[in-house]
Amino acid sequence: MSAIDTLDFTQYDTQAISDTDRDHFLHPWQVFDAIAEEGALPIAAAEGAYIYDSDGNRYLDAVGGLWCTNIGMGRDEMADAIAGQVRQMAYASPFVDMTNIPAATLATKLAELAPGDLNHVALSCGGSTAIDTAYRLIHFYQNCRGKQDKKHVISRVNSYHGSTYASMSIGGKPGDHPPEFDYIQDTIHHISCPNYYRADAGISAADFLAAKLRELEDKILEVGADKVAAFFAEPVFGAGGVIVPPQGYHRGTWEICQKYDVLYVSDEVVTGFGRLGHWFASKEVFDFEPDIICSAKGLTSGYQPLGATIYSSKIHNMISELGHGRCFTHGFTYSGHPVACAAALKNIEIMEREQLLPHVQDIGPYFQTQLKTLADLHIVGDVRGIGLMACVEFVKDKTSKAPFSEELDIGKWISNQADSRGLIVRPIVNLNVMSPPLIINREQVDFIITTLRGSILACMDDLKQHGHL
Ligand SMILES: Cc1ncc(COP(=O)(O)O)c(C=O)c1O
Repeated sequence: MSAIDTLDFTQYDTQAISDTDRDHFLHPWQVFDAIAEEGALPIAAAEGAYIYDSDGNRYLDAVGGLWCTNIGMGRDEMADAIAGQVRQMAYASPFVDMTNIPAATLATKLAELAPGDLNHVALSCGGSTAIDTAYRLIHFYQNCRGKQDKKHVISRVNSYHGSTYASMSIGGKPGDHPPEFDYIQDTIHHISCPNYYRADAGISAADFLAAKLRELEDKILEVGADKVAAFFAEPVFGAGGVIVPPQGYHRGTWEICQKYDVLYVSDEVVTGFGRLGHWFASKEVFDFEPDIICSAKGLTSGYQPLGATIYSSKIHNMISELGHGRCFTHGFTYSGHPVACAAALKNIEIMEREQLLPHVQDIGPYFQTQLKTLADLHIVGDVRGIGLMACVEFVKDKTSKAPFSEELDIGKWISNQADSRGLIVRPIVNLNVMSPPLIINREQVDFIITTLRGSILACMDDLKQHGHL
């Protein structure tokens, strides 16, 4: 019998939870008016690929929490590993010259799983801090090398790298940069997003790729190769709309970075830990060897907060030699937290034992092929993705690719329909984004496709009734 079977949902007063939540919990990306009017959906339990709200309604969570519940929720083994570590030692300081066994073991394991000479690991609390750590590490490295001017960073429009001050400034989603917040602007530059669906009409894939590569090289030359320290890139844009760059883009951008002594930071917070069928996608899927990989999310499958910045021996040797006598004043009280590291180690063990990487290599293409069947619908402009990352883009006019007006919030309109049918998809303006747990099976994939089709059709009826179609 599972924990859900014995859970008494009648103990929850959903309205009261929603009210107290609204009064006291400031949510990430909270839309003030919407929370005030509608409140938030309280989730009370989770098991496998399913989540349950406080009234006991079950949903297939095709978002995988937030790209993270890779091995599925509610696993006793994970609970036991976490509880066991809490009992043995819930905390130990990682500072200066103390360590703990799960942290040292995990860092060693990550060095083994990561490509090339990525042999060193800074541990932190999540994806944003993994990116922040990379950013500060790069500064330290360049200063150690005597390259004090080489601090500028290039990233891309539509990228998402987190929400600390630095990681949000590196990110390039226009909607995430409202003027009420401030950003680092003088040393962070954004080039355009390699989204072929939104390319100028008639441009060939080869010309599109060449233009995108030229743009990176031109930007490095414009800022000055002696000033550009690093290029930050997600192998597949996640929150920016599951954009898979054209074939050759990763290798091409990497070669340009090599040419100009620019470090390549691959943000694998989403693409790592099996989402594309490999521990990391940079080398295995896209054939390049970054200098730094940032990881989080699937690293613990969401059971504990944890981030990892995995960086090269080249960087490490440089900072440890040239940094001789200096102190690397970066890290957190919870760097290498033993409970989080124990959760990551158990998560990796489960992924290995259950062969989840080959499973994703099998189910991922099935998911993508089935999802593509939605392309016959009148308002579906593009269906794209790779592995277990996917997105459906809705348009008002398929030929011109004209979007619906943003106020219509079409993605949310459809995701509300999906909610009512027991399916969670993530609305982002005119998109529905999906990243189901890696344990998903074919029957569950079929449920996602059928339910999403029904939700889109219902929304199209609504749109017609309201004169929007
Ligand atoms: C690619 C990428 N990088 C970084 C982050 C930030 O991770 P976190 O929210 O754990 O700080 C995210 C979160 O969605 C992400 O998708």
